[in-house]
Amino acid sequence: MGCPMVDGEGRRPRVFVARQIPDEGLALIRDACNTEVWTHELPPTREQLLARVAGCDGILTLLTDRVDDALLDAAGPLLKVVSNYAVGFDNVDVAACARRGIAVGNTPGVLTETTADLAWALLMAAARRLPEGDRYVRDGQWKTWGPMLLLGPDVHGATLGIVGFGRIGQAVARRAQGFGMTVLYHDVRRVPDEVSGPLGAAFVTLDELLERADFISLHVNLTDETRHLINVRTLAAMKPTAVLVNTSRGPVVDQLALADALRDGVIWAAALDVTDPEPIPMDDPLVGLPNCLIVPHIASASHATRGKMAAMAAANLIAGVRGEPLPTPVAPPS
Ligand code: DGY
Repeated sequence: MGCPMVDGEGRRPRVFVARQIPDEGLALIRDACNTEVWTHELPPTREQLLARVAGCDGILTLLTDRVDDALLDAAGPLLKVVSNYAVGFDNVDVAACARRGIAVGNTPGVLTETTADLAWALLMAAARRLPEGDRYVRDGQWKTWGPMLLLGPDVHGATLGIVGFGRIGQAVARRAQGFGMTVLYHDVRRVPDEVSGPLGAAFVTLDELLERADFISLHVNLTDETRHLINVRTLAAMKPTAVLVNTSRGPVVDQLALADALRDGVIWAAALDVTDPEPIPMDDPLVGLPNCLIVPHIASASHATRGKMAAMAAANLIAGVRGEPLPTPVAPPS
């Protein structure tokens, strides 16, 4: 990134980094900018965030920070860039940024394989009932080998339905090949045969996917169209033996409908990396269900990947405050 930069008036750009991120990125930012980092475990409250961004040239946000007109007003006229430390950017009003000429960046690509690993881990864990088995042992219930103990479906040879066939969905399909699975996918856009062919993935309608899949893994962006894509109707269309995996965004699933479906045997199990809201309240019906596995939004949480995300988010932030094109910009809505 070269030596510390100054703008035309000899002023180092001011940036706010909304949480402690790995040094692979933070060191670059500190080197280039006057940097304030929010070092608390919990994110800044809305009021704290609005106060901290005032007068900044750039902000590094997380998916927990809402970026909207009010925040952009609070930041003021110097703001040039919002660099989101995530591939998802549903927390950012990209159109509002575009109207003000503020660039938005995200961190695509680097977390694809790590996220697919976690989706796969959730799928396996839910199918083979790993959390229940672990609790069973620790609760001192393990008395003998049991022919009927903790039975679940086979993963190998089963049918996997992938909803959203972008980078991460495709990486999940690659893993399914090792398990000899039939892979179906649905997306608003059909991918070229050169992409789906080597993955052995067949395009089907959403209804056909829901009807045929033993495992359904969600990899869509959160948009108005995908909010509550999984609802009473789509759950009812699944097999009663189906396992649902969500590593996309919590609101893609209607959680109350999912809780009812899991309780009433409409589907067999679910494994969630994301919930609505996050964290999931302890009195949410899903929390009490043994056939619902929930982890705290950790799909990209490997040391290496979080470091790469930090470097990428830093590169976007620094390019943005310099008025240069971002390495990985989010395109404004057309
Ligand atoms: C993302 O990047 O969008 C994930 O949800 C967090 O890594």
